[in-house]
Amino acid sequence: MLKERIRCEELKKKVTTAEEAAKLVKPGMTLVTSGFTPAGYPKAVPLALAKMAEASEEKYDLTLITGASVGDELDGALTRAGAIARRFPYQTNKDMRKALNAGTVAYQDMHLSHVPRYIDYGFFGNIDIAIVEAIAITEDGGIIPTTSVGVSPQGIANADIVIVEINSTQPMELEGCHDIYSVKKPPFSEPIPLKDPGDRIGTTYIPCDPAKIAAIVECDIPDNVRPLGAIDEDSKKISANIIEFFKKEVAEGRLPENLLPLQSGVGSVANAVLGGLVDSDFKDLTCYTEVIQDSMFDLIDAGKVRVASGTSFTPSDTGLVKLKENMKHYAKYCILRPMEISNNPILTRQLGVIAMNTAIEVDMYGHVNSTMIMGNRMMNGLGGSGDFTRNAYISIYTTVSTAKGGDISSIVPMVSHVDHTEHDVQVIVTEQGTADLRGLTARERARAIINNCAHPDYRPALLDYLERAEKEVGGHEPHIIGESLSWHDRFVKTGSMKIK
Ligand code: COA
Repeated sequence: MLKERIRCEELKKKVTTAEEAAKLVKPGMTLVTSGFTPAGYPKAVPLALAKMAEASEEKYDLTLITGASVGDELDGALTRAGAIARRFPYQTNKDMRKALNAGTVAYQDMHLSHVPRYIDYGFFGNIDIAIVEAIAITEDGGIIPTTSVGVSPQGIANADIVIVEINSTQPMELEGCHDIYSVKKPPFSEPIPLKDPGDRIGTTYIPCDPAKIAAIVECDIPDNVRPLGAIDEDSKKISANIIEFFKKEVAEGRLPENLLPLQSGVGSVANAVLGGLVDSDFKDLTCYTEVIQDSMFDLIDAGKVRVASGTSFTPSDTGLVKLKENMKHYAKYCILRPMEISNNPILTRQLGVIAMNTAIEVDMYGHVNSTMIMGNRMMNGLGGSGDFTRNAYISIYTTVSTAKGGDISSIVPMVSHVDHTEHDVQVIVTEQGTADLRGLTARERARAIINNCAHPDYRPALLDYLERAEKEVGGHEPHIIGESLSWHDRFVKTGSMKIK
């Protein structure tokens, strides 16, 4: 099977074991791998590398750069083996999260659209090895990715050598799904010729000089995808509020009847938001997004979607089975692009993308925290949310109004960390309602967010804070500085933000 998937004769001799390929990785190296939310990442070589690192007396101190989150075989195994010193730009692995919050792995959260640029421009320094998962290699060495593209094109182009893992569990029907287009470096860069989410502007494989491919390994481990939470009542209400908002925008002539290209973030709420469109009257929808989650397959099945463009298939465990069984069908509607293109801020602006992302908390002036629990504990990272938010036609943030059984208000006086500023955030939606911040001033925004989005249990305390801040301190965005973060402090000390 493996030899059939290697269509380049001279590369057949590069087939080796994961253990032999892992030996190419030396301490201190910088690795770029395929993989995005956790799909299409290499598995066999990282597992072999983790074993080698555990047995070694020398510290590996690797720098690991991926498209976005990857599975436990890569982030988890290498973290537990103590092999990673530095990690960019996004993760969701529990052992990795523990390590970076403990400071044993150094981490930098980055806008995903910046990562391919950093690799191309040399901002990360030399890239020693790219390790990428593929379904096949073409006659002239081109690498056909699997369920994600991420930063593989830039990793392959810039690394000294490339290790390819051919994954036999990934369906061959993925071939043709990808559209690989590379942007030249300034001052030679040119406008990207993409006018519609369905346009194909590149190749169906990542070009690669065969001489760069140092090892080819067979792998039969499927993507270790995450289950999605069931769509609960709060998520359904958030979704319904967004659909109401869309209807109003169409009625008032600010959106066409089939809306504009939709971008939807990661997680259960984001999945529910798109899921809500299945039963709506909207049709002929297009999606220009990063991750293609389960609800997109439902939208396609319901005949609502003309095209879905992303950089990865991010199904749940059950969604993965459905995707694999019906790959041919979904491939007709889906295009996977490099994240340089899927997350490109220029294209977001040009296509008029409607960005819908999830917040951990939002403050009364509209600043959003997407990443940091209580201001200091990294959850995942901001991913592509900022790429889309700032440049969207309309940028929407969703959150359930409370967390931890009601002990936390997701609407607070001041967020404990800022990922997206008031200047970028236009609409906030919770299960309580919608705050349309467009055209509102700072103090108007505060009342719109508190009255429409905060949970009634927390509304009086928020209004009280706002009124006292206006009276006692004043200023453009009134805040009582000593008190602004006291809500978080109260939760840390007493286990609840409620004033007892
Ligand atoms: N304060 C403290 N903790 C909070 C909180 C708040 N205001 N709101 C939620 N949480 C906690 C939850 O309790 C949960 O904790 P647990 O893991 O201990 O159970 C955790 O945060 C995640 O919350 P959940 O409601 O399960 O979130 P989700 O699956 O909808 O994901 C984000 C929400 C924000 C974490 C996720 O969307 C994310 O990582 N976003 C940033 C990246 C991004 O937007 N990418 C998309 C670009 S295309």
